[in-house]
Amino acid sequence: MNQTKNRKLLVIGGAGYIGSVLVSHLLNSYYSVVVLDKLFYNNKRSLADLMSNRAFSFIQGDFSDNSSLDKAMDGVTDVILLAALVGDPLCKKYPDEAKKINEDGSINLIKRLNRYTLDKFIFLSTCSNYGLRDTDDPADEKAELNPKSLYAETKVNVERYMINNIKSINYSWTILRSATAFGLSPRMRFDLTVSEFTRELALGRELLVYDENTWRPYCHVDDISDAILKVLEAPGKLVSGEIFNVGSNGENHTKRKIVDVITAQLKQNKVKYEKGGRDPRNYKVNFDKISKILDFRTKRTVEDSVEELINEIKAGRFTDIESDINFYGNYSINL
Ligand SMILES: NC(=O)c1ccc[n+]([C@@H]2O[C@H](COP(=O)([O-])OP(=O)(O)OC[C@H]3O[C@@H](n4cnc5c(N)ncnc54)[C@H](O)[C@@H]3O)[C@@H](O)[C@H]2O)c1
Repeated sequence: MNQTKNRKLLVIGGAGYIGSVLVSHLLNSYYSVVVLDKLFYNNKRSLADLMSNRAFSFIQGDFSDNSSLDKAMDGVTDVILLAALVGDPLCKKYPDEAKKINEDGSINLIKRLNRYTLDKFIFLSTCSNYGLRDTDDPADEKAELNPKSLYAETKVNVERYMINNIKSINYSWTILRSATAFGLSPRMRFDLTVSEFTRELALGRELLVYDENTWRPYCHVDDISDAILKVLEAPGKLVSGEIFNVGSNGENHTKRKIVDVITAQLKQNKVKYEKGGRDPRNYKVNFDKISKILDFRTKRTVEDSVEELINEIKAGRFTDIESDINFYGNYSINL
């Protein structure tokens, strides 16, 4: 049997879409892992396959609650913060909770972690922070942030706190601005562009697409997990106090391009395009920094993932979506 490495990682929000994939990656890399998650989507089953792993433990709780946090921090060497209300529509629906969890909760956590001896802290932020760009030039990490939603504003405010208070934070931190995720996960989200479009079209429904020429970068959940591993395993001097965009230059797509990939595979085209959607974001992102400094290369493309998802849908997986809608997307939370 392989020995676990001498590091115990706390993944806050580890039962979510990215988290449930990440935790498997971390366990496969021989780390001990503890997940702290409030299970806003009744999503404990996303970790069901890991429960018997002796290197894994799970605590249900809110990371803003100090007693849950103190319990979860027992023996922990590194913390990865994924927990948040994720996505523009969800934050718009619950603005008070979004501010309380994503911004105040994250900042309080960052302050409280000073009480522990930590190696690394990784904050999952988003390329949505670039929001709306008036240039076709892909945004690198120094580009101006232009958040266009409460969701992105909360992420930008946490980033600003970390940058402005670097001297009073006594552990090494790294901010990862991830591209929009795609790919299969034990907690599948069908409220994200690639999976939503693929499912609608694979089920033979008509798809309505707003602002088809707007750009955004995409990254597979496995690749996002690899980027987090890269940061954990990098020498501190390469990642401490640094911001990295996570994704790849070749995976900036317009919505139209994504639809074209899907319809080419399904050989059908029931798509209606309209102008004037509610999502003003339009940004291309540059991923040279993570590629150069951490030698990070994505392995999965939107095209591969669409094929995989179509096969799963056609094989009859996800037939319980309508009866368990909140598990499969960030529509409503259990308050
Ligand atoms: N999914 C994407 O496209 C994407 C893109 C860029 C960045 N991100 C970032 O990655 C992270 C994870 O995203 P995801 O898609 O996996 O989201 P998700 O909604 O699937 O998972 C978030 C998890 O956090 C938990 N959670 C929320 N508030 C909590 C609290 N107060 N205490 C404890 N647990 C709590 C939820 O129960 C859920 O299991 C987020 O920080 C998000 O901003 C996601």
